[in-house]
Amino acid sequence: MAKLKEMMTVVSQREIARDIFELVLSGELVQAMNQPGRFLNLAVPNPAQLLRRPISISSWDKKAGTCTLIYRIGSDQSGTYELSKLGAGDTADVLGPLGHGFEVTENQEVLVVGGGIGVPPLYELTKQLIEKRNQVTVLLGFASKAVKILEKEFLDLGVTMKIATDDGSYGEHGHVGLLMDALNFTPDAVFSCGAPLMLQAVAKKYSDTVANVQLSMEARMACGIGACYACVVHTPEGPAAAKKVCEDGPVFQSKEVVL
Ligand code: FAD
Ligand code: FES
Repeated sequence: MAKLKEMMTVVSQREIARDIFELVLSGELVQAMNQPGRFLNLAVPNPAQLLRRPISISSWDKKAGTCTLIYRIGSDQSGTYELSKLGAGDTADVLGPLGHGFEVTENQEVLVVGGGIGVPPLYELTKQLIEKRNQVTVLLGFASKAVKILEKEFLDLGVTMKIATDDGSYGEHGHVGLLMDALNFTPDAVFSCGAPLMLQAVAKKYSDTVANVQLSMEARMACGIGACYACVVHTPEGPAAAKKVCEDGPVFQSKEVVL
């Protein structure tokens, strides 16, 4: 799969929920985007910040030549805070698309489970699942209504969807695991991205009964291209068979990795 480095142009940037920004970029490397769940590695527009920041591709539009990233900013010292200051017409130094994403199924009854800032890559995934005639149920969990994102966009795709918030300020009160427990069907495949505890809950519930459980993992990264081993995750085969999140993942079958 082609990997490109490009100075992309910022089309727009706006805050879509508390401390969560939507960044739309245009450039040639959009044409290399082919699999949901892959990511871009963005240089921070501050020479003091040497490491790039990995951000999942939330969606792309090849005709328009644009892609959308959705990310949460950290403190005012963080690289993501610096990124949030980019405005229309600015350039962004981008490497990608990187990593191995979700394998999109066809004609199946599937479940998509997302938590917090893990939700963005599931949007392009869900678009492609619908295009491939899957019947899709989406369960999303957020800390509160203030940080809820992409609800309308998912609903516009025509999926069955439920939302839970940890503080009960929107949807069901509680963790997204409660929504999984309330389901009355066993899916053919499960796709998930979110906090490690949520991924563990998904794996615990479905790994023994569903053959295809795809989890998107996060890890602290340095190079982002498989050269430094900063991002390894363990596998059931032991340390010698460790995998790199940036290159072998971020999406893995649940049985491939130790959560
Ligand atoms: P800083 O405090 O400036 O970061 C300091 C250092 O720690 C940097 O090197 C940074 O890369 C590293 N770091 C800190 N937290 C994390 C973390 N959770 N994961 C990886 N590195 C970290 N966030 C989003 O908001 N939206 C996304 O779509 C998204 N997709 C991601 C996809 C992948 C494959 C990975 C690995 C991470 C993704 N993240 C996403 C997390 C995002 O990269 C971190 O929030 C970000 O790197 C933290 O940087 P910062 O500038 O806010 O913090
Ligand atoms: Fe360097 Fe993954 S970040 S090998």
